[in-house]
Amino acid sequence: MTKSLEGKIALVTGAGSGIGQTTALTFAREGAKVVAADINLPDAEQTAHSIESAGGAAIAVKVDVSKSADVEAMVKAVVNEYGRLDCAFNNAGIGSRGQSTIDYSEEDFDRTISINLKGVWLCMKYEIPQMLKQGSGAIVNTASIMGVVGIDNSSAYVAAKHGVVGLTKTAALEFARKGIRVNAVCPGVIETPMVLRYTDEHPEVKEKYISRTPLGRLGNPQEVAETVVWLCSEDASFIHGHPMVVDGAWTAQ
Ligand SMILES: NC(=O)c1ccc[n+]([C@@H]2O[C@H](COP(=O)([O-])OP(=O)(O)OC[C@H]3O[C@@H](n4cnc5c(N)ncnc54)[C@H](O)[C@@H]3O)[C@@H](O)[C@H]2O)c1
Repeated sequence: MTKSLEGKIALVTGAGSGIGQTTALTFAREGAKVVAADINLPDAEQTAHSIESAGGAAIAVKVDVSKSADVEAMVKAVVNEYGRLDCAFNNAGIGSRGQSTIDYSEEDFDRTISINLKGVWLCMKYEIPQMLKQGSGAIVNTASIMGVVGIDNSSAYVAAKHGVVGLTKTAALEFARKGIRVNAVCPGVIETPMVLRYTDEHPEVKEKYISRTPLGRLGNPQEVAETVVWLCSEDASFIHGHPMVVDGAWTAQ
């Protein structure tokens, strides 16, 4: 069977868990060599190991996406190892603490914006110059349905994810004529460790999420991964500047 990303080089942040981990494995399934980056190096190494065990090629890199020097070093590591960067999935992020707008601490607000919004900007800041040198590249940023609609008790998370959609559209306009496509993926509620950490403690919240999702279930990471890998492929060649929801129709309501 033809692989959609044969010989491409794919970078995934947050590759140690959840959506990033599954997407890293899916990039490899489609023939890409993968750089699995995460703040948690052992988890990123585990992802790289799984790829190699399945016959693929991967390395692991430690990165805190909120730190400029780390992100610059991450992109250098990709180019040092593989010589180029074709697909970048800027996905690392943290969840919301579930506090109302007036109860959010400044520290929590700053941390969420720093990782979920500034982290995506920093990744593009260092990835795009490499893609410009090549004259090609595809970027997918992880936003959320919370980048399209609001939800109560998550103001910093919602603000960050709306910001990711804004960054995506802006970069798409800036680099449209340079061979670089930039899109965002906006997952609904997906069963990953980020969500399970919360719903295991609050089962009633899981029921609330399910009842709010018209398809009547939560999503799984593979459903997001397939979308991301497709957005990076030539099959999505005219899709640019688009925040694509993968949400069981949450935002159709
Ligand atoms: N799970 C969902 O329902 C859902 C829905 C919409 C959007 N998202 C977004 O998807 C992305 C992935 O979430 P997930 O559900 O897979 O979560 P997860 O917690 O399973 O994975 C997140 C990964 O990001 C890494 N990470 C956290 N901070 C980092 C940093 N500063 N630098 C580098 N790596 C860091 C973590 O170590 C972890 O491996 C996040 O941006 C999240 O906001 C998730």
